[in-house]
Amino acid sequence: MADDKKQLWGGRFTAPPDETFAEFNDSFRFDQRLFAADVAASVAHANGLQRAGIISSEEADSIVTGLKALLDEADKRADYFATAKAEDVHSFIEAKLIEKISDTGRKLHTGRSRNDQVATAFRLWCRDEVDAAVVLIRRVERSLVDLAARHEDAVIPAYTHLQRAQPVLFAHWCLAYFEMLERDLERFEQARKRLNVMPLGSGAVAGTGFPIDRDVVARELGFDKVTANSLDGVSDRDFTVDICSAASLLMVHLSRLAEDMILYASTEFGFITLSDAVSSGSSLMPQKKNPDALELLRGKAGRVFGNNFSLLTMLKGLPIAYNKDMQEDKEAVFDTIDTVGISLRAAAVILDNASLNEEAAMKAAATGYLNATDLADYLVEKGMPFRSAHEAVGKAVLFAIKKGCELNELALGDLRQFSDLIEEDVFDRLSIEASLKARSTVGGTSPERLREALAAAKAKLER
Ligand code: ARG
Repeated sequence: MADDKKQLWGGRFTAPPDETFAEFNDSFRFDQRLFAADVAASVAHANGLQRAGIISSEEADSIVTGLKALLDEADKRADYFATAKAEDVHSFIEAKLIEKISDTGRKLHTGRSRNDQVATAFRLWCRDEVDAAVVLIRRVERSLVDLAARHEDAVIPAYTHLQRAQPVLFAHWCLAYFEMLERDLERFEQARKRLNVMPLGSGAVAGTGFPIDRDVVARELGFDKVTANSLDGVSDRDFTVDICSAASLLMVHLSRLAEDMILYASTEFGFITLSDAVSSGSSLMPQKKNPDALELLRGKAGRVFGNNFSLLTMLKGLPIAYNKDMQEDKEAVFDTIDTVGISLRAAAVILDNASLNEEAAMKAAATGYLNATDLADYLVEKGMPFRSAHEAVGKAVLFAIKKGCELNELALGDLRQFSDLIEEDVFDRLSIEASLKARSTVGGTSPERLREALAAAKAKLER
């Protein structure tokens, strides 16, 4: 075993840590993911120490070169982390550096604590991952827009209470999810903005006694500014909750998308045919083709909510400032980021491979009195108060149900029993085309509005 496991805090202790305590305490097995971020922050810190005259240029060069060599080694050696033993990624890097450049390496930790160090490295890591999530959200948005474009004129029934309600364009359904993802994008971008503040220089809790120019260090690391209060700087984990709550809503949206598609892919609906590429079979029933990918999309939401809740619970009782409880922040965020990443990638593949069975969807939209509201609106246009029109059409629907036909299949004479305002032109209003065309306010499902909405969505993807 290399010297990696030597404690950073051994001086005051006369006995080594108990093995079980070490197993409980050590975070290296998961926080090694912060390796590159922590090296980057350490490089900037070394440069800051040098500019402040605390270490010489030669020492800073040696530290920076040594740190970069560690990055290189980690890149090249697949077992770099697997064979190492360390308390956490910070002590690992420091031990490796000292191993490489000896005593000069022992100067790196001047003026910083693992408390501001971990907060800084974690924010850097999160920033990259939030950026990556934003790219993946855009990718799913593109898949939705492409799916809409592949079926631009197709119609599906819209449901309320999962009962057929009114016809809408399939593209309208696609763009509903696009809207949700737009809000998710915005939330991730806001999370990024709030997290991009540098705690380094907060020291352990009270700030640092060395005259390091924090603003210059922050600029080097791409932070927008530095934290304004050292107590808050080392203990603020709002950014982890920001990420996990943005991720939670994103997963709500992906889950609802999945639920819609699971329903639509069932034989009962028959609207969507799932590609073999994203379906699984049954080990027992030879005929089965199951929407496993969609079910996982729906199922994985729960663990992200759980992570979000873990963080809130972990934070709520903590006395200011750093407490070891906070080490629990990593796995919650790592798991969230991993889950969101694979979920978004899966969602894109599912959508790219999905197609609408236009005929079946149209048939469903044409049956079940989805044009009843259109008939009521027709009567309103002829001068009847809406409430009376609603009543009259309700009776007409009951009549049609008894006859076993649709409203538009009734004879004019039959329809006129419910109001003599009804004339021959009513049949023009009862078609699906007319129903769609009528819903032309902003946000409605008319083909005209949809053309605009699709163009707007495409334009957003160009940004
Ligand atoms: N592994 C620790 C964490 O993630 C690093 C900070 C430790 N600081 C301390 N004072 N023990 O929170």
